[in-house]
Formats: sequence, structure tokens, C-alpha cells
Amino acid sequence: MLAVAGLAGLAVGCGPGSPGVSAPENPLKIPPLLRPRRSSDGVRRFHLNLRAGRTEFLPGKKAATWGVNGSYLGPTLRASRGDRVAIRVANRVDEATSLHWHGMRVPAPMDGGPHQLIAPRGVWSPEWTIDQPAASTWYHPHPHGRTALHVYRGIAGMFIIDDRDAPDLPRAYGVDDIPLIIQDPTFRPDGSLDESAVTRGRFGFTGDSILVNGTYEPVLRVRAARVRFRLLNASGSRVYQVGFGDGRRFHLIATDVGLLRAPLEVGRVKLSPGERAEVLVDFAPGDRVTLNSVGERHKGAAPIEKGDFDLLAIAAAGRLAPAAPMPSRLSDSGPIEPPPGARVRRFVLGGLEINGRTMDMARIDEVVPAGATEIWEVHNTAFAHTFHIHGVGFSVLDVDGAPPFPQLRGLKDTVFVHANGKLRLAVTFGEHADPANPYMYHCHILRHEDQGMMGQFLVVEPGTESQVPTQLSGMTHH
Ligand code: C2O
Ligand code: CU
Ligand code: CU
Repeated sequence: MLAVAGLAGLAVGCGPGSPGVSAPENPLKIPPLLRPRRSSDGVRRFHLNLRAGRTEFLPGKKAATWGVNGSYLGPTLRASRGDRVAIRVANRVDEATSLHWHGMRVPAPMDGGPHQLIAPRGVWSPEWTIDQPAASTWYHPHPHGRTALHVYRGIAGMFIIDDRDAPDLPRAYGVDDIPLIIQDPTFRPDGSLDESAVTRGRFGFTGDSILVNGTYEPVLRVRAARVRFRLLNASGSRVYQVGFGDGRRFHLIATDVGLLRAPLEVGRVKLSPGERAEVLVDFAPGDRVTLNSVGERHKGAAPIEKGDFDLLAIAAAGRLAPAAPMPSRLSDSGPIEPPPGARVRRFVLGGLEINGRTMDMARIDEVVPAGATEIWEVHNTAFAHTFHIHGVGFSVLDVDGAPPFPQLRGLKDTVFVHANGKLRLAVTFGEHADPANPYMYHCHILRHEDQGMMGQFLVVEPGTESQVPTQLSGMTHH
């Protein structure tokens, strides 16, 4: 227990029942790093148990929650490019669910989407070789129609990919390399999670409180002059614009699935559900500052983009470990450039449909040749949505015909699509061909996804596109 004069005044005041200055400090929880067992064949084996539990978010009150190897959220997994990983996922909750590796380029049967359901008491054991650049990916359930609720109950965690080719960046986990998983539940007066709105309504649920790493009104004490935060928006619907209460600027170094070419100085980073950003933040000894989110104020802003929230109170120690020089170059990989004549596919986002249809587990919507680079044109004719594609990274070519904001110039797997927005994405598909197991693309506003705003694509041997059936055999209509 650290009690330091001056910190109490930092108490973050958001949500109901904000404590006064005498409230005890809630140190930011850091999801534990899960150590893999390394078998003689070199495979790194991780064990994940999805389970129910009870969690104290509000002081003295307990909530029924789900978690992975714990009562709420899950451990951080970490592996390097080239590693072979094997995960044993045991489902110990009383509902069928799945575990999807969001941002991970895995073969389709390992993807953990709605076709890889794990029955209660069941076990699922995906295994793959990590073959992508350094990134902050994450995992969460994906059972069709129940994703929002299962994530809200607490099943989510980070999977960090390291790359020996990456530049020298802070990487001491929990010290100067810290995940920040942002969620927005609503608590009932008894301290339990209010689930009533999560599975209802057309537009999606936004809560009135903030949790970071499952911590209510968190405080972080930093001991390094430069800290790398891995921001993850694991909320069902809410969009954040993350920055600092004192307006300090910081460096964006990575978007969803990869490092930028060079650090980009910014004042705010916009994160819609499912998106990640890695940032480097500099601290002076004794600094007291709040990480916060400000809502969009322009007229066309969607309700999910509104609202100001304090996220995390930060207190820097009186002496800080010095920072290494800021690398001028982070990666050599520029944006994906579609080859001349690249295939263009159009995705029209309606209220809750994509191209006029809602999700059918038995229907294949798109068939893509393995290894292809295509242009996916996303046209939103309705209210705010996001667009996420499984198993790939993409570059945003343009937004409403103009070059994207610098923040969208890194490699992405999820992107915000404002009302009536038109985005063009350059997408490179993986080399794993599989004519039987589809990947998903969908809106990552989880309530929209659950209502069917999702489609399926197969990645197949080039030249066989017209030979694969567009109905999945053995699949019943959902
Ligand atoms: Cu994070 Cu298909 O989702
Ligand atoms: Cu995903
Ligand atoms: Cu949507």
C-alpha cells in the first residue's frame, strides 16, 4: 500500500458515486503476463481457463463476472514473430462461447470466430506459427449473437507480438510497457455489472463508468521517464479520444497491427471499439497528470462519440529511469499499395446490414484468392459504424476521397466509419487457403455485430474461387 501525499487529489471523478478526496487509492491493475510452458519441440504452450467469478470494482461491493484464469479480464500473452504457439482454451462458464485472436494472422480454423464454439466444459486447442510484425493484438469471445455480453462480463485480454527486427522501445512489462484496456460498464447500486441494456437496443450500449484493466478510478505510479502504453478499446460501442488533462503531447508509434514508419507527435488518439494504439509518453519527476477522453463536439457526432471521461490518474515518482533516445525510424513497411487492376469489392453499411444482408452462418459472402491484395471500399449509408476484417492487416487509402489522418496511416484491422463516410482500404490476405473455414468481417460495435452486421469470406487457392460452394455444408441457418 502506497500512501503518498498529494495523490488523493488526483482521484478520477467519473461515474456514479465518485469518492471524495479521502477515498483510498486504487492502483491500476496490470494483467499478469502468462508464462508459456515450453515443450521440447519448442512450442510455447499457454493455458487459458474461461471462468466465472466475483470481482470487487466498487469498494466493498462484489459483482458476478467472467474472466480468463481469474475473475475479470485475462492475462497478457506475449510471443515473438516466428514462435510456434499452442493455446489450450478450457470453457468453464455455463454458456458456449469462443475465443477469437483479434489482429492475429491465423489460419481460419484457429481464428476463434463463431464457427469455433467451445461448449461448456469443452476444450479448444488452436496452434499456429506467429508470422506478422510486432503488434498489440487481443483476444475476446465471438459467439454469434452473444459477443457483446461475453466481452462485457469480462472475457478479454492482450496478446503482444514482439519482433526481433523492431527498434529499441520500452518493453519492461508493467514497468515502462503497460497495457491499458478501456471499458465502460454501468454499475448497479449494489456494485454488480448492469447487463440489462447490453443485449438490447439497436445502436449499442454505452455505460456510465470507466474501467481500465478492470480497475475503477485507477491510479498509476510511473518510475520511468518514458512509458509505452498499449491502448485497447475493449468497450462494446464507445469511441474514445485519448489524451492528457494538461494537454501534453505524446508520440503515436503503432496502430492496430503494426508500428508506424516513424513516431508521430499527437495530442489525441481516437479509438473506436476493437482498435489499439501504442503511444510513448514522457514524464518529468513528480508529474501529476490525468489520461482522459474528450467527446466529439461537432454536429454530426454520433452518441457513441460523445462524453468526457477521466481514464487514469498518473503520478510520476521523484526519480525516474532515464529514457532511451526516441527512435527516428520504427519500421520499413510503408502502407499497402494495391497493384494496378486490383480487385475492388464494395461493402455498403446500412442500419445493421452489410450489402443489404445480415449474417448467415451458412452463407459465404466473399471468396478471396490467397495472398491477394484487394481494395475494399466501405460506404456507410447510415449511422456510425466500424469495419473490422479478420486475419489481415490493411491500410486506409482514403477517407471521403482525401488522404487519411496521419493516425490512420499505420497498419489497421479495424477502422471507424462515420455516418455517410466512404473509406477505401488496401487489404492483403494471408497465404493459408482453406475452402471450408471462413473468416469474418463485421462492425465492431458489438451490439451491431450481434444483430447480424457481419459477413463471411473464404481465402482459397488462386484460380479456384468459382469452384468453392457459397453455402457451408453441415451448417444450419442461424
Ligand atoms: Cu474483435 Cu470479429 O472481432
Ligand atoms: Cu477480429
Ligand atoms: Cu455498426
